[in-house]
Amino acid sequence: MSMLYLDNAATTPVRPEVLEAMMPYLTRWYGNPSSHHTVGEAAADALADARARVARVLGLRAGDIVFTSGGTEANNLAIKGIPVAAALRRGGAVGALRPAHVVTTPIEHESVLESVAYLERVHGFAVTSVPVDQHARVSTDAVTQSLRDDTVLVSIGYANNEVGTVQDAAALAAALRERRVPLHLDAVQAAGWLTLSATELGYDAISLAGHKVGAPKGTGVLGVRGRIPLEPLLHGGGQERGRRSGTEDVAGAVGFATALELAEAERVEASARVGAIRDRFIARVLDRVPSARLTGDPVNRLAGTASFTFAGTSGEAVLLELERRGVVSSSGSACAAGSDEPSHVLLAMGIAPELAQTAVRFTFPRWLTAPLDAVADAVEASVAAVSTPGR
Ligand SMILES: Cc1ncc(COP(=O)(O)O)c(C=O)c1O
Repeated sequence: MSMLYLDNAATTPVRPEVLEAMMPYLTRWYGNPSSHHTVGEAAADALADARARVARVLGLRAGDIVFTSGGTEANNLAIKGIPVAAALRRGGAVGALRPAHVVTTPIEHESVLESVAYLERVHGFAVTSVPVDQHARVSTDAVTQSLRDDTVLVSIGYANNEVGTVQDAAALAAALRERRVPLHLDAVQAAGWLTLSATELGYDAISLAGHKVGAPKGTGVLGVRGRIPLEPLLHGGGQERGRRSGTEDVAGAVGFATALELAEAERVEASARVGAIRDRFIARVLDRVPSARLTGDPVNRLAGTASFTFAGTSGEAVLLELERRGVVSSSGSACAAGSDEPSHVLLAMGIAPELAQTAVRFTFPRWLTAPLDAVADAVEASVAAVSTPGR
C-alpha cells in the first residue's frame, strides 16, 4: 500500500486551483494594496474581490471580513478583541478597563483556551468553562445558565478537532441572541463539512483557517459583524479597517477565497460521500478490533473524522505500526502530538487518562471516493501488534 494521508484535520495540501489563482499576485500583480498607483490598485482590487467572495460564502458583509494569519490569530482577535472592547466601554469615558465575564468549554483548541486564560490572568476577567458530556457535546441550557449580567462573549468550537463532535451552533446562537450576548464560533474544523452561513447559524463572529481547506498555511479569516466592537491586536497602518494592521497578504487572501468557495460548492456532496465511507470504516474497526471504542458523538460528528481509543495499547505505538503499513494518522491534535500529556479533550469527556493515551484519530480528505476497508484491516493488525494481553 502506498502512503495514505489520513491527518487532514492537521492540515491539507494546497489545491492546484488555489495555487493557480494565487500565482499572479505573487509575481505580476505584486503591489501593496495601500499604494496609490496602478500596481497597488490591482492588488487592492484583488483583495476587495477576495473579501467579497468570502463574505458571500459566510453570508456576511464584505466589511465584516478580517483577513488574518490563520485560525490561531482569528481566535486570538475574537477572544481578546471583543471582550477588551466591551470592557473599555464598561469603563466609561475615563477609558479604564472594567473586566467582565466570558464563557467557553474545556474542549477548545489551545488558541481559544490560552486566549481566555490571558484575559483572566492579565486583565482580571472572570471565566466559566461549561462542561461537556461524554460525547463532547455542549448543552445550550448549560451555556445559558452560565451567563451573568456582565457576560460579554461566549466562544464555542463548532466542530471539535480531536473527536469531530459538532455542536448545535444555531440553537446556541438563538439562545444567546435573546440575551444579547455575542457568540464566537471557532469553525476551523467545520469548514468544507458544515454550513458556515451566518444567516442559518446566527453567530456574531467566526474563525476560519485556510490550510484546513486547501489554501496555504498562514491564511485565515475572522468574520465579525460590524455591530460588534473589536479592539485590535496588531496596531500600525490601519489596514483591515483598523482591525488588523500590516500589509495585506493579497495572494493569501485570493487563495483563501478560492479554497473556501470550492469547499462550499463541494460541501454537501462531499459530506454525504465521505460520511458514508466514515460510517463503514467505523463499523469495520469496531467489528474487528475488540478493544476499539469510538470517541466523540456517534451521530453529530464531522463526516471526515473517525476517532477511537484502543485499550491496552499506546496510541503512539499504534500510529507507528500504522505508518509501517502506509497509513499516516495522529493521536489527536497536531499541537498535542508528541507530548506525553493525555488530551484535554478526552479528559473533559470523562475518559480516564490511561485510556486517553491510547487515542488515534483518522481525518479524511474531502475527495475520498473508495471505502477504507484496507485501512480498517491495517488498524486491526496494528492494534494486535502492540496490544498488551490482559489489559
Ligand atoms: C479547532 C481549531 N481551531 C484553531 C486552529 C488553529 O488554526 P491555525 O493552525 O491556522 O493557527 C486549529 C488547527 O490547528 C483547530 O483545529
